[in-house]
Amino acid sequence: MPAPPTSAPDVQQTDFVFRCIACAHTSDSAGRDFRCQLCGDLLEIVYPRWKDNDAKLEATRLRSAWGDRRSSSTLLDQSGVWRFRDLLPQLDNDEQAISLREGNTPLYELPRCARSTGVPRLFAKHQGMNPTGSFKDTGMTVAATFARRAGFRWVACASTGNTSASMAAYAARGGLRSLVLVPEGKISWSKLSQSLDYGAVTCQLRTDFDGCLRLLQELVKSAPVYQLNSINPFRLEGQKTVAFELLEQMNWQPPDHIIVPGGNLGNSSAIGKALLEMRELGLISKMPKLSVIQAEGANALVRTLRETAGKRLVNVQAETRATAIRIGNPASWKKAVHVLEATGGACEQASEIEIAQAKAEIGAEGIGCEPASAVTLAGLKKLLGQKFVKPDETVVLILTGNLLKDPDFTIEFHRGEMFREADADVNTGLKSLRRPPIVLDATLDAVTRALEQAEKS
Ligand code: F0G
Repeated sequence: MPAPPTSAPDVQQTDFVFRCIACAHTSDSAGRDFRCQLCGDLLEIVYPRWKDNDAKLEATRLRSAWGDRRSSSTLLDQSGVWRFRDLLPQLDNDEQAISLREGNTPLYELPRCARSTGVPRLFAKHQGMNPTGSFKDTGMTVAATFARRAGFRWVACASTGNTSASMAAYAARGGLRSLVLVPEGKISWSKLSQSLDYGAVTCQLRTDFDGCLRLLQELVKSAPVYQLNSINPFRLEGQKTVAFELLEQMNWQPPDHIIVPGGNLGNSSAIGKALLEMRELGLISKMPKLSVIQAEGANALVRTLRETAGKRLVNVQAETRATAIRIGNPASWKKAVHVLEATGGACEQASEIEIAQAKAEIGAEGIGCEPASAVTLAGLKKLLGQKFVKPDETVVLILTGNLLKDPDFTIEFHRGEMFREADADVNTGLKSLRRPPIVLDATLDAVTRALEQAEKS
């Protein structure tokens, strides 16, 4: 049976088109590989109607409609993604959306990190507070919705664990089957357990993330499955709403800097796209600088910018304990280079020790995040050192995943099992942050002594 195209011909699609990021060729439909039919590069979604001075897109009208929807009880309005639907591909009716009331994530102040870094106006937008514990849900609600709308029965992704958890959940909610390809032994059990619970067919492949993604791209050419990796531009449309929500939370006063972790580079591309769109529509007048931070062991974008000035991707053999961003061949690198240039952002890397330290510092704020998210704080320290970020500026870190996504990392860190004991410098620097569990006899005396010792330290 021939597989349906991604945009089924009988579905009216008047409000958006797919545009190639390299040759700018536009089309009403996309193939299952989401690549340009002419040159093979990635596609993005654009909205020709925005050019028509559509009164509905007037900035004050948008802001007030989005604000009003916050007090509505409909499913679509309660979603922190679909609430911004004026700037998303349109649905034929509200029932089409597959939603878990994603988005609506908190913007926290980070007073302790603000003191230690010397940046008083430091905030964290915690995307780990989404329904499956990561920012992926904001993209998945849109992409899964359009998968079902186009008539697909199967969705699939390659993943370092969060995309797969999210995809499996949204597929289950939408009555779709899902196929997950993850690198064996390279993702956290918490994330793997989510896709099992949500009923995905979960394949642990003996390769890395890049190998899983390659295989998926072959698979979609021959099997009628809809790929839900961030190559899929519907994902990025959903993910861009975090920037709308953030600006709304900041009363439309743009921060000076937004700092985001970089793996496959879909998220940075999505947030950058949102910033550019907000400026185009007059929702913001000043452009925040969007900076991307990678793990030193998975620093393809850092090297691409330093060694080729962003002209050619430098692949790396990725290795980092921040497994969510253990990616050596990022698919959306060109989109990320574009948004870094367009917003004037920087690209930095953080070592394993810097990541672990930053994660413990965010945890000590009572917030917590997964290691990949903590690169943002580690990167901020570097950008401050380079005077790219100044102490009197407003900085927002995008925390992408929940603390509970990778408990092994946290436990090994606090037990002092993560870095070599012999590495004295490392251990002294991290010691004050460690809170190892204490095994005691079940006596009042033992617990009282533990309390007294803690009071002294
Ligand atoms: N932070 C977390 C927690 C992630 O899970 C990911 C990516 C990133 C940051 C990087 O985002 O790839 O858009 O640059 N996780 C993907 C996955 C690859 O399969 O879950 P990116």
